Amino acid sequence: MNNENTQTVLIVGSTGYIGRAVVAEAVNQGYDVIAVTRSPAKEGEFAGAEVLVGDVSSPASIATMFPRKVDVVISCLATRSGLPKDFDDIDYIATLNVLNAAQEHGAEKFILLSAICVRKPDLPLQLAKLKMEDALMRSGIDYTIVRPTAYFWVFDTQTEMIMKGRPGYVVGSGEQAVHNPIAREDLAEFMVSSITNTERKDRVFVLGGPEVPDNIVSYRDALNMVFESLGKEPNIKSVPVWVLNTLINITWFIGLFSRKIGMFSAFLKVTRYYLVNDMRAPGYGSRTLKEHIMDTTRKIDT
Ligand SMILES: NC(=O)c1ccc[n+]([C@@H]2O[C@H](COP(=O)([O-])OP(=O)(O)OC[C@H]3O[C@@H](n4cnc5c(N)ncnc54)[C@H](OP(=O)(O)O)[C@@H]3O)[C@@H](O)[C@H]2O)c1
Repeated sequence: MNNENTQTVLIVGSTGYIGRAVVAEAVNQGYDVIAVTRSPAKEGEFAGAEVLVGDVSSPASIATMFPRKVDVVISCLATRSGLPKDFDDIDYIATLNVLNAAQEHGAEKFILLSAICVRKPDLPLQLAKLKMEDALMRSGIDYTIVRPTAYFWVFDTQTEMIMKGRPGYVVGSGEQAVHNPIAREDLAEFMVSSITNTERKDRVFVLGGPEVPDNIVSYRDALNMVFESLGKEPNIKSVPVWVLNTLINITWFIGLFSRKIGMFSAFLKVTRYYLVNDMRAPGYGSRTLKEHIMDTTRKIDT
C-alpha cells in the first residue's frame, strides 16, 4: 500500500465489473476511498473503503454523496439495461449530475470511464458517452477520460459453455475484428494512477491490453485458446451473419412492447458492433487474455 496518497476519492459505479476493481486499486494505492453503491454492501465487500449508499439517478441523493471534502471523483457508471433512454439517463445525465455536484463541492479532478467504440459512434451507448465526454472537457475541472477496448469477461460465457462440452460459436468467420482486450486490474491501475500522473491531465486515452500474440485476438482465436487450454480439439460452429441480423430485427420489433426483449435486442446490436469493428488499442498492463482463459478453465476444473 502507498501511504503517500492522502486524497479522498469518491467512486460511482463501484458495484460494476470495472468499478469493483477500481475501488480495490484505489484502496491499494492508499487513498481514502468512498464507494457509492445503490444498496448496502455485504460484510467484507469493498474492504478498506467507506461505503455510501446513494442513487445517482436522483439529484437529491447525489447531493448527499459529498459528506466531506472529496478531491477526486471516478465514474465507472454504465447502464445495465442497454436501452437507448437508459444510456442517456445514466451514461450522460446521471454522470453529468455527479460531475456538477463534484464541482460544487470543490473536487479537483474527474476521471471518466468511457469506451473505445465512441471513436466510431453508431449506437445510443456511444452517443450518450460522447455527450458526457464533451461536457467533462468543457467543465473546467481537471479530467482524464479512459476509453478501454473489450474486457476479458466478454469471452467467459463461451469458455464456461465449452468447459461443459458444448461447441464454441462465432458469427460468420469470427475473424472480422481483432481486439487486444484489457484486464480489469490493469485498467483500474491506469485509472487510479491517473490521479497523480500529470501527463494524463486533460487527456483522452484509448487503452487496450498488452500488444503480444497471447492478447491480440479475433473472436475465433479466443475460442481456439479455450480449446487449447483444455487440451481439446477445436469445435467451433459458425452462425451466418444474416441469422444474427434477422434476430436483431425481430427482437427490436418485439422489444417495442417488451422491455426484456428490447434489452436482449440492444445486447445483440452491441455484440454485432464489436464483431465487425476492430478494437485494437495502444497496449497497457501485463495481463493477457490467454492467461485469463487458462485461469478460468483451471478454476472451473477444480
Ligand atoms: N464490455 C466491454 O467489453 C466494454 C469495453 C469497453 C468499454 N466498456 C464500457 O465500460 C463501462 C463499464 O462497464 P462495466 O462492465 O464495469 O459496467 P457494469 O458492470 O454494468 O457496472 C455498471 C455500474 O453502474 C451502476 N448503475 C447502472 N445503472 C444504474 C442506475 N440506474 N443507478 C445507479 N447506478 C447504476 C451499476 O450499479 P448496480 O450494481 O447497482 O446496478 C454498476 O455499479 C460501460 O460504460 C461500458 O460501455 C465495456
